[in-house]
Amino acid sequence: MAGSAQTPRGVNHLVLNVRDLEASHRFWTEIIGFRCVAELKPRPDRTIKMRFYSGVDERGDVNHHDLALMQVSGDPAAPPEPWTLEARRPGVNHVAIQYPDRETWLKQVEFLQAKGVTFHRRINHGMTHSVYVSDPDGHGIEVLYELPREVWGDDIDGAQNYAERLPTEGPEALVDATDYPVFGKEKAHAV
Ligand SMILES: [Fe+2]
Repeated sequence: MAGSAQTPRGVNHLVLNVRDLEASHRFWTEIIGFRCVAELKPRPDRTIKMRFYSGVDERGDVNHHDLALMQVSGDPAAPPEPWTLEARRPGVNHVAIQYPDRETWLKQVEFLQAKGVTFHRRINHGMTHSVYVSDPDGHGIEVLYELPREVWGDDIDGAQNYAERLPTEGPEALVDATDYPVFGKEKAHAV
């Protein structure tokens, strides 16, 4: 009997195909901060090289995986495409990585800049403050912290339609304002 679709809880994990598993492992652990929680063991019947990564929740628990990396069997020397937010071809546009709070995010953004990671864009959205970088294969990565639900919960559409472009270089790239616009029944206003 045809019923209606069940509403899912949300996105559970993402798998990226990568050219060099070791290089990507270093990026996703040392630069982005995930923990590697599992790896497929070699078996005679499979040649897949794959590792699994998780963030950590308030209690210190890890998920089975938020992200997995699988090494591609094609030409690893092929250069990656430079990332852009514009959708130029089908495929993954970006992976959004959420840090637990604003303070942690600010430290992470400062760390990224200190490591020389290029900020492709920096945008204050209505529901997140975000920096867009890319991994060694050119996968887009949005490094974000989520704003309190009170500012976007009453008007997700309004919050999604709000975007403020910010500087991506120098000390200005590390400045984060907290006068979050509030979206709701009435016109957006600053808190
Ligand atoms: Fe995003």
